[in-house]
Amino acid sequence: MSELTKVFLFVAWLGVITAPLNSSAETITTTENPTGWILRTQSSVYQLAVAGDGIVIPVYYGSQGNYTELNGVRTHVNPKVGSTIRDVPFRGGYVDMTPAVEVIFADHTRDTELIYEAYEILELDGFPCLRVDLKDPVYGLRVSSHIRVLPQLDILEKWLVLKNVEDKPILVENAQSGSVYLPRDEYDLVHLAGRWGQENLVKRTRLTQGVKTIQTRSFRNHENPPWFAVGPAEQMSETGGSVWFGSLAWSGNWRIDLEQFDSGNLQIIGGINFGDTAWTLDPEEEFTTPKIVFGFASDGLGGASHRMHEYILDHVMRKPQNSQLRPVLYNSWYATTFNVNEEQQLALAKIAKEIGVELFVIDDGWFKGRNDDHAGLGDWTVDEKKFPNGLQPMIQKINDLGLDFGIWVEPEMVNPDSDLFRAHPDWTFYYPNRTRHESRNQLMLNLARRDVCDYLLDSLSRLLSENNIKFIKWDRNRPLSDPGWPSADPATQREAQIRFVHNLYHLIAELEKRFPDVLFEVCSGGGGRTDLGIFSLMDQAWTSDNTDPVDRLMIQHGFLHAFPAKLMVAWVTDEDWHRARPSLKFRFHSSMAGVLGVGTDLTRWSQEEREQAAEMIDLYKEIRPLVQNGVTHRLLSPFDGNRAAVEYVTPDGDEAVVFLFNTWETLQGSTPTSLKNPSVRLRGLDPNAEYLLSIDRKGRATGNTLMNIGLPWFLNGNFSSAIVRLQKTD
Ligand code: GLA
Repeated sequence: MSELTKVFLFVAWLGVITAPLNSSAETITTTENPTGWILRTQSSVYQLAVAGDGIVIPVYYGSQGNYTELNGVRTHVNPKVGSTIRDVPFRGGYVDMTPAVEVIFADHTRDTELIYEAYEILELDGFPCLRVDLKDPVYGLRVSSHIRVLPQLDILEKWLVLKNVEDKPILVENAQSGSVYLPRDEYDLVHLAGRWGQENLVKRTRLTQGVKTIQTRSFRNHENPPWFAVGPAEQMSETGGSVWFGSLAWSGNWRIDLEQFDSGNLQIIGGINFGDTAWTLDPEEEFTTPKIVFGFASDGLGGASHRMHEYILDHVMRKPQNSQLRPVLYNSWYATTFNVNEEQQLALAKIAKEIGVELFVIDDGWFKGRNDDHAGLGDWTVDEKKFPNGLQPMIQKINDLGLDFGIWVEPEMVNPDSDLFRAHPDWTFYYPNRTRHESRNQLMLNLARRDVCDYLLDSLSRLLSENNIKFIKWDRNRPLSDPGWPSADPATQREAQIRFVHNLYHLIAELEKRFPDVLFEVCSGGGGRTDLGIFSLMDQAWTSDNTDPVDRLMIQHGFLHAFPAKLMVAWVTDEDWHRARPSLKFRFHSSMAGVLGVGTDLTRWSQEEREQAAEMIDLYKEIRPLVQNGVTHRLLSPFDGNRAAVEYVTPDGDEAVVFLFNTWETLQGSTPTSLKNPSVRLRGLDPNAEYLLSIDRKGRATGNTLMNIGLPWFLNGNFSSAIVRLQKTD
């Protein structure tokens, strides 16, 4: 036992607050007696202290308002038990929380102790970061816990760095990114759930004693993207109540556990899903976890989303793409599927240009042997039967029309029927004595191997340098299975899933360095890869393969909880999953609430439809800065009734655009409780200003009227929709 663990403080409560709480207070302040730290954001406080046995304990995380009522920190420790509530929970002693650190030392000891050693307040990219160094008093394990504070956004980023300072390896069985410990309350959890074609459906559930886990074990996020929000069950609403929210920067397997204790406290912890993974930390080596992000909002789920959106736009996405407007794209997948050729793509491009599209994207089917989904993945060279002169002559003609050109790839995959697989059957994940499970007739490449990563970098670089490609749609159409790597040493085999993600990030980052003008869209059988890790590299996301405009209102409503509209790609197609026959106008409106694209066989649209499409695209270009850069207000949830409404407003409230949708109507009206549709109250406007209303509703009204009385609901009938623009008058 270390010296520190022998020191016990028998004073139950100590007055320790060293600085008054006001807006000019420093973001991170230290306390003495006991040693500790207070991290302040605009609306939250996070406090830590070193307990009598040297363990760093969470003291408080929540609103500024409630914090001032606290008058001290409990640091007394029963020496027979030790501190069991820990800021970096570890496996060792009494394990009363979900652990963040679980290791095995060379002598097979599976317990650790993480005792406070030192701290430093750093500046990372202009923001303060508290680093607290913890050490095992006996073994050579050091853990540095980082908390970077973004005070204006009420956001904390947490991550751990584990270091081996002894001369034998340490096996890391689990290293989560960070944990928080919330005040006693009865909490509801809001999260997103679904499956292929039904991504991001909003779920709300009461947390009771025990652990609720959201996770992925298949590398795909259809079931749950890594996002959560919790708040006092009776208080948390769209516009009010305390909300703790968060997300994770990891594109492989991850987990977020929410553990409600008998005390009423709630622990939230997340990071890589170690599952069958373990990482061997050799002497002097470090392991850095991905970042987990925690935030606090006192203005409800809407407030949580505003902070998250701004955080992603300003601190996650790559620059300068984060501030650039996304082009209106056309994608030929629904029109031509795998049967692509120059003549037919040019015919589509010509109409796309006429209706105002800016970027033409050829989807699957352009590469060697790709006539359906049985062959070709892995061979990223053009199919000479379909394009005897290569792609560039066609691209040139498309460029001459005034359109940029983009292309679909699925680099992490291989079809057994491909030159790549025939040459390198050992380049996929597999176990020698097990079935290589296929999905969509494809296997997953073992990107944990550096040679696989180098092959992809070379072949994609060749594609991008030989052709004038300005946009990549990067797909991944199957989940992980059989993650074996038989040729690697046993320790490295257990690291495959983490090494895969590291190499994936390296591959994309390197391509972006070589081809800085290329925009990247992430896709995974629809919206199956949406996380902060991928969004630090990819500029937009394919939201779902379900392009039914009514379903999309729900899928998009959910997506906007976690991610900003600038990432949310929405195409107008002729898909009609419920035989509801929504009008072209309705379909456009549904897609114009995100990053607009068109994805249908344009040759089948009548002249009238093309003219209407051209008008809609023109209108979209006018309101695009508001949709893509504005603050999002989810006014009416499509989950609550038969209407939906979303508003995008400039931060200063000068301008806004509102999208209104009637899905279906009954004699009861389109809300369950009223005969008539009530008005919809807008948000984020200047109450004292007058606004000019245009597009589908004309007139003038004050911000006060629009926010407190509301915009009258003027839609009639099933599947009717409208866009209203608001501009402040002088
Ligand atoms: C996935 C994508 C689609 C399309 C096809 C092509 O399903 O989600 O948009 O690109 O692959 O095979």
